[in-house]
Amino acid sequence: MEIDCEARGVRLDYGNFMAPRLRDGIDASALSTSLSVAFEAALSTVSTWREAGNLGFLDLPYVTDAVADVTRVVDGLDQSFDDVVLLGIGGSGLGAMSLRDALLGPFWNQRSAEGRDGFPRLHVLDNPDPHTFQRLMEQIDPTRALFNVVSKSGGTAETMAQYLVVRERLDKALGPDRARSHLLFTTDATSGALRQIGDTEGVAMLSVPDNVGGRFSVLSPVGLLPAALCGVDIDALLSGAAEMESRCRSQALISNPAGVIACLLHHADTDQGCPIHVMMPYSDRLRSTALWFQQLWAESLGKKTKLSGEERPTGPTPLAALGATDQHSLLQLLMEGPADKVVLFIAVDDPGAAVSIPKRHPEIDALSYLGGHSLGELLATEHTATAEALRRAGRANATIHLPVVDAHALGQLIMLLEVATVLAGALYGVDPMNQPGVELSKQLTYGLLGRSGVPAPEMADADPRWVL
Ligand code: PA5
Repeated sequence: MEIDCEARGVRLDYGNFMAPRLRDGIDASALSTSLSVAFEAALSTVSTWREAGNLGFLDLPYVTDAVADVTRVVDGLDQSFDDVVLLGIGGSGLGAMSLRDALLGPFWNQRSAEGRDGFPRLHVLDNPDPHTFQRLMEQIDPTRALFNVVSKSGGTAETMAQYLVVRERLDKALGPDRARSHLLFTTDATSGALRQIGDTEGVAMLSVPDNVGGRFSVLSPVGLLPAALCGVDIDALLSGAAEMESRCRSQALISNPAGVIACLLHHADTDQGCPIHVMMPYSDRLRSTALWFQQLWAESLGKKTKLSGEERPTGPTPLAALGATDQHSLLQLLMEGPADKVVLFIAVDDPGAAVSIPKRHPEIDALSYLGGHSLGELLATEHTATAEALRRAGRANATIHLPVVDAHALGQLIMLLEVATVLAGALYGVDPMNQPGVELSKQLTYGLLGRSGVPAPEMADADPRWVL
């Protein structure tokens, strides 16, 4: 069972979900009956959301204005920077990290300026951990750094607190006028504190479209700007996304890769007792993409549904892993632990570097078989072997095959997973674009820190009986 997602070869192989290949797998007939019926209903819900203007991420590959804005800002910088520091959390930080790690490759920030072709290093400060913050500030020269403050709402505590510290330090180091040219805000077009500050103080700004939620914003200026600043081919990224968006409009489940991912993973959770969905790329460059997907899947789908009458909690638990590293960690659990997990592998045809393994020690069996192969071959073979081992253990798994890790393929992968997420939202009967469950802890934080208008909350005191 394989879907060729487009001419340049992004493929989805889900044969290891299907019977009889997989013990207790899905019968092929379901693809044209029950799963197909569920898919058609989900597609119609998603169309309604799209017509209502709620799924702006689907249009991002075609929004030429946003690309023009990003290009204008990048070309218009009147100085070059050694470091770009993105302040942003959740959907405002994870997308940029995933683009950086996939497309600039490992050790980008450790390379010399020459090794980076003169493009800046890219740091993402998401967590307001003072230790990380301080160490980075000691490492960079603020007079050679650009701070991209990314917050759609323009008021997120973690991001705005870091902005306040950075702003004070920039003002001190450069004076308020020059400090402004080291700042760039990416925020809502009209509302929020960040927009207000930018307007008042004349800071350069880019807009996040109103109908694009944080975790769906990687292909908006949120992800495009930092990527473009570091030399990523954003046109190729968007053209890959556009191809996949068009592919995922297919009304037939068996030719819609996003539909197949959504239906299989939803069915695994709700009908097969597998609510834990592991994403395991066999590529270091895609490790951050697995973390990005973890947030996308969790924050979009983990919420209350009213689908079958009474309101009840629903949603899968995503788990980011890495092959082959996690063969020496999670795999034991995946093979023999509770049968409550399915795995979505990502495999890459072109490993990105040719490193052959020399033939040494022909006398030692434990080493001699490796000689003559390459590291890429080893990694690819380990993926094949692990997928087969899971299948033999009756554990469902599927693989997205990328021809190569480049901007075009990554654009396809991002769009594929985003469309799968909204289709899964429709299948679960939840709104994938909201996140009401994160509000209470925000309000408690505000109250505890004394935000005006928010009463100090009554907290359950620690009970000494239960503290060791
Ligand atoms: O996906 C989401 O909507 C969230 O994870 C947000 O991106 C995150 O809370 C940060 O929000 P903001 O961009 O408003 O600072």
